[in-house]
Parts: sequence; C-alpha cells; structure tokens
Amino acid sequence: MKIGIIGAGNIGGNLTRRLTALGHEVSVANSRGPETLSALAEETGATPVAAAEAARGARIVVVTVPLKAVPDLPAGFLDGAAEDVAVIDTGNYYPQQRDGRIAAIEDGLTESRWTEQQIGHPVIKAFNGTYAQDILDRGAPQGSPGRQALPVAGDDPAAKQAVRDLIDELGFDTVDAGGLDESWRQQPGTPVYGNQGDADAIVKALAEASPERTAEWRA
Ligand SMILES: NC(=O)c1ccc[n+]([C@@H]2O[C@H](COP(=O)([O-])OP(=O)(O)OC[C@H]3O[C@@H](n4cnc5c(N)ncnc54)[C@H](OP(=O)(O)O)[C@@H]3O)[C@@H](O)[C@H]2O)c1
Repeated sequence: MKIGIIGAGNIGGNLTRRLTALGHEVSVANSRGPETLSALAEETGATPVAAAEAARGARIVVVTVPLKAVPDLPAGFLDGAAEDVAVIDTGNYYPQQRDGRIAAIEDGLTESRWTEQQIGHPVIKAFNGTYAQDILDRGAPQGSPGRQALPVAGDDPAAKQAVRDLIDELGFDTVDAGGLDESWRQQPGTPVYGNQGDADAIVKALAEASPERTAEWRA
C-alpha cells in the first residue's frame, strides 16, 4: 500500500521503519527537505520527499509533526492522495513544553478536531499515546496473550477500519474509542495515555477518562 508520512522524528521514523519492513511503499517528509532524510531512506528503502509530495497516491497519510507545526503544512498537501485516503493524526497538545497556547483547544476543542480544521480533511486519531519505541519493540502476532492495544478515534468508519487494519499489521490490537468528539478520552493526562495494556485494559482506561484537561496539560 502507498503510505505517506509527514514528520520523520520519533514516531514518523519508527513508522517508516516498520511499514517498509512490512512491504509498504512509504514516502516520508520532514520540514528541512528530502536531502536531510538520506540516512532514513538508505536504512528503510522509503522515498524521501517534500511535505507537499508525501501524500501523492497514498491510501494512508500519517501526520506526525509537533501540533504547533500543523498550520505550517503546505496548503493542499492532500490533493494528490487517493480519493478514500485515511489521514492518521498522532498529535498531542503540549502547551507548556512545546506548542504554546492554542486557544480553541484550551476552550475545549479536541486536539484532533483542531488538526482536522487546520488541514481541511477528517482525521483518525491513533498512536498519540504510544511510545515511539513500542512501535519497534512491542508488536506481536494476532492472538498473542496480552497483545498491546491502541485506541483509535474518528468519525469515518471506513477510514477508521483502514487504520485499525494497518495497526493490526504492525502487531497491535485496537479499540474503537468513538468519534473525534470523544477523543479527549485518549489525550495526554488520561489513563489510556502511555498505557501498554491489552484491549480489555484499554477499554477500561477509556471509560475512566475525564474530559477535563489537567493543569499539567494546559497553557
Ligand atoms: N515521541 C513519542 O513517543 C510520541 C508518542 C506519541 C505521540 N507523539 C506525538 O506525535 C507528534 C510527533 O512527535 P515526535 O516525537 O515524532 O516528534 P519529533 O521527533 O519532534 O519529530 C517531528 C518531525 O516533524 C517534522 N516537522 C516539523 N514541522 C514540519 C512541517 N512544517 N512540515 C513537515 N514536517 C515537519 C520534523 O522535521 P525536522 O526534523 O526537519 O524539523 C520532524 O521530522 C507530536 O504531536 C507528539 O506529541 C509523540
């Protein structure tokens, strides 16, 4: 499958490694240009491209840049993607350490709804509470006892299923965490954030979440 990855840091780099190993055709971009991605390209066989090109022909696009960088993504970067493209948003709002104050999120908009508005395309929220290293280390075959599960939130059932299928290929169970308006259940500070449990543990953690953003995660 053609997959575009925008952001080649902790998460984008490791997704590039695993998805190429699974045989997917990956295009990967960062902010500084494809010439700065030669080491990752050599290691993985992924194609380094400009951010504006990463989605071309892709069935799945992963947006995995710091939240504050989302408004800087090239206008129309999804224009050349497959018609039914599913866009994964891995983002978290880190107002104190990284992103500064984003008023709409402080006022209660979910992070992913904000991202969706910025890029002008629906997103599926996944991987946001997953340690980057776990993507490399903790995948396991279907049916393995204690197989780690990831919550997946989004409004488009077909796109959500495509993302869940890809995560299964990567070696993880998934739990349907509802629509994007419910995706506060997996934001930083919730019981599911950083949780390495199996599907039962993730269902329980999602149910125990509170919509209120804790002080640590506010500007
Ligand atoms: N680290 C984790 O374990 C983890 C886990 C779950 C979720 N997340 C979330 O996932 C997102 C990415 O995290 P990360 O740790 O992977 O970030 P990171 O290591 O800081 O990497 C960010 C990547 O985004 C690229 N980038 C920045 N602005 C861009 C732009 N305008 N256009 C294209 N690419 C751009 C950077 O490119 P340059 O290097 O060229 O600047 C870099 O490759 C964040 O929202 C984070 O909160 C992180």
